[in-house]
Amino acid sequence: MANIQVHLHAKDISSLSGQTLVVFTKPGSAKDSAAKITHAETSKALSTALEDKILTGASSEVLSFREARFLGFRNVISVGLGAEAKLNHEVVRQAAASLCKEAKAMKTTEIFVHLDGITGNKSHLAEYTQAFVEGLQLCSYNFDELKTNDKKKVDGLQVHLITKLAKDKNIQAAFNEGTILATCTNFAKRLGDMPGNLMTPTILANEAIAAAKGTSLKVSAWDLKRIEKEKMGGLLGVARGSAEEPRFIVMEYKGAAASKKPIAFVGKGLTFDTGGISIKPSGKMEEMKYDMCGGAAVIGTMLAISQLKLKINVVAFVPATENMPGSRATKPGDVHTARNGKTFEVNNTDAEGRLILADALAYASEQKPQLIIDTATLTGAMVVALGNVHTGYFTRNASFKNKIEKAAQQSGELVWNMPLTDQHVKDMKGTFADLSNTSSAAGAGSSTAAAFLEQFVDADIPWAHFDIAGTGWACGNRLNYCSPKGATGVMVRTFVEIAKQYA
Ligand code: BES
Ligand code: MG
Ligand code: ZN
Repeated sequence: MANIQVHLHAKDISSLSGQTLVVFTKPGSAKDSAAKITHAETSKALSTALEDKILTGASSEVLSFREARFLGFRNVISVGLGAEAKLNHEVVRQAAASLCKEAKAMKTTEIFVHLDGITGNKSHLAEYTQAFVEGLQLCSYNFDELKTNDKKKVDGLQVHLITKLAKDKNIQAAFNEGTILATCTNFAKRLGDMPGNLMTPTILANEAIAAAKGTSLKVSAWDLKRIEKEKMGGLLGVARGSAEEPRFIVMEYKGAAASKKPIAFVGKGLTFDTGGISIKPSGKMEEMKYDMCGGAAVIGTMLAISQLKLKINVVAFVPATENMPGSRATKPGDVHTARNGKTFEVNNTDAEGRLILADALAYASEQKPQLIIDTATLTGAMVVALGNVHTGYFTRNASFKNKIEKAAQQSGELVWNMPLTDQHVKDMKGTFADLSNTSSAAGAGSSTAAAFLEQFVDADIPWAHFDIAGTGWACGNRLNYCSPKGATGVMVRTFVEIAKQYA
């Protein structure tokens, strides 16, 4: 999957030898030269490129100098970081991804990175070390396990990060955290990239159970009988049309005293969404294998929290099913009863995510957590509103909103607060049941979907809903550490940051 190994060394790079040296560049001042090479000695080796102004130090500018034969290295790669004033962890993350792509294109198998060149500031170096590892590991993800012909054994890329601070506890912790976050994000991506026939509700549950082996996570999956017993009418109503049994995945992590209230995550695990009887058009329907990316993000988050050994208690719930138009499928107009006793009419069977989340949110509320976070590829309207740039989130809790904004700034994932008001709630009133799963008003489809979800969350529990319909996959056009067509694993990094605030 990720054919890369990253190591951290406390050495002087000038004393090392190997295949490829990596140095950083920043734009220079007009009077000395076009660019500044942060490893001063290397300026000599790249002097022609500097004179010719090929090197500019622009952010993510990557130039390789093959057979440069400088110091003990055969090749040199220069990686631009852009202007000092604009340097931040996202710039570093993207620079690392650009480097990873170049190293692969060059077919070099061993690179030595002059990490100290990024910044001389010790506390920034920790932050940037984490971002650099994330960029490398995220970019190295490759979903090729279903291809038989181009599986030529390529040697993995060995990356050596060289810094005189490699023994520093903060640098080591940052390195470790970056590795865990990226690995768990890549884990979520793989679940999303698997096609529907190979990622059924049962397989998704088994993957979560298998991944938790040997960790302190407790994972179980309820089968159809248990889900019936638990009166999850939303999940059952959606699953009716499919020959595949649904699953309700339950994950538990205990990192604090039993008396401490847990935080709860809920993720939409819709392993394939045909739309059901309100069937979707066939164009691009194959993309609906990604409709379980909310569930995948929650599973990835739980794995990361357990590996980071955060001192909190966490529970997570992933309702998993297919949405198929089988002969027993829910029909438009059918009325079902959710776990909390509320009835809803299904006026469009394609608005199914909110129905399976309804039961999961009601169940999560019963656990009396400190807060509930859910995430889902919930609405096409979200894609229209924000594209694949920001994840839209909804919450009516002001202090929770601040925590979310702070977490997203830490993680580098972009989020945008969306409106959720009593007006939206009114739009979801049913004609023949308590609620309708479609809005009686035109527009604001993401807000009305959120308003439906809100009806299943205990009013005393702070709650936020993240709609990743736009950001869950195919973000390669703007994030070079994401594959152009594949799943992104979005929200794992931010959710871990939120969780850390409760530790
Ligand atoms: N899984 C889709 C939402 C979706 C659409 C995600 C496009 C990613 C890209 C969801 O189940 C759905 O079909 N929602 C409907 C709701 C509508 C019928 C009220 C939608 O958004 O069209
Ligand atoms: Mg749908
Ligand atoms: Zn869906």
